[in-house]
Amino acid sequence: MKALVLSGGSGTRLRPITHTSAKQLVPVGNKPVIDFGLEAIAAAGITDVGIIVGKTGPEIRAHIGDGSQYGINVSFIDQPDPLGLAHAVLTAEPFLGRDDFIMYLGDNLVAGGVTEFVREFEETKPDAQILLARVRDPERFGVAELGDDGNICRLVEKPKEPKSDLALVGVYLFSGNIMDACHAIEPSARGELEITDAIQWLIDQGQTVAQHTITGWWKDTGKLADMLEANRIVLDRYETRLEGEIDAASEIQGRVVLEAGAKIINSTVRGPAAIGANTVIENTFIGPYTSIYHDCVVKNSVIEHSIVLEETSIADVPAMTDSLLGRKVEVAHTETRPERYQLVLGDHSKVGLI
Ligand code: DAU
Repeated sequence: MKALVLSGGSGTRLRPITHTSAKQLVPVGNKPVIDFGLEAIAAAGITDVGIIVGKTGPEIRAHIGDGSQYGINVSFIDQPDPLGLAHAVLTAEPFLGRDDFIMYLGDNLVAGGVTEFVREFEETKPDAQILLARVRDPERFGVAELGDDGNICRLVEKPKEPKSDLALVGVYLFSGNIMDACHAIEPSARGELEITDAIQWLIDQGQTVAQHTITGWWKDTGKLADMLEANRIVLDRYETRLEGEIDAASEIQGRVVLEAGAKIINSTVRGPAAIGANTVIENTFIGPYTSIYHDCVVKNSVIEHSIVLEETSIADVPAMTDSLLGRKVEVAHTETRPERYQLVLGDHSKVGLI
């Protein structure tokens, strides 16, 4: 069995972070989202992995390399425009042929990995197997309607009026027949070749589409709130590991991961929290559910329930919460008189001021 990981797309909902960079590389618990998927695929014993990349391809390639750090062999597949998940499958046809494969959306996180679903697929050999999860906002997802017998009757992509709360999770198992389906369907109203329509085509042809409803957590990290929630879930699973330096005036409370080269000076870090390599925290309170990535500097500030990407500096911020800061961002007090906010923000930035 092969794997196809989708890491193209434009990620408009996480703007401006993903205007120019890949949303699959945004870290949760200081680990890029895509790493969770690649590790899950490797753990299921799959080594032949195709990775769909688009405009952010160079970054994804640089991060993943040849895949050896995950124990997989990687083939990158260019998809010039994000024309849909089924279009990505067609783009990967030379790599996939008509082999069975697991398709994993690079911005999804699934608790407990995928090994169980892969084994189930290999044992029962359906034409396709999908994962479903109950959600509060099904209109954001592909939605499944099940019959009384528990079998799938209909799949609809982002319906305005969902007929069930069962969302399609971004992990799919396919036989080679999915290729015929992707060739047969037409673009949807939003102009994409939808994998949801391709699976519906299999159902219409009388092929077997099995479903497995998962009860563990699952996150599509497309939006800020999802990202923060994924960060909470991941941090909650970390055990304390302190490899950086902590001075005598500082205190570490609860479960904290402190990477090598990080420095905590006259500060309190209250876990669950993760502080990346070579990051300096000085005269600061880091509250629960905060991940500060590598090579950051935080001084004279209070930060909680936030994600901060690499090489960012924050100074004299008395209270920051529920925030996501990108790479190389600078947040500081200005000396303007009379006191005013001075802001330099990218397109589609969001700032909450009081
Ligand atoms: O997360 C689960 C949902 O994923 C499902 O419930 C939906 O049925 C499915 O269509 C999909 O919806 P999204 O709107 O969340 O998909 P998104 O456009 O965010 O793309 C998912 C991943 O696939 C993301 O990592 C980008 C990548 N992608 C997307 C497109 C459209 C590609 O690599 N190529 C593409 O053409």
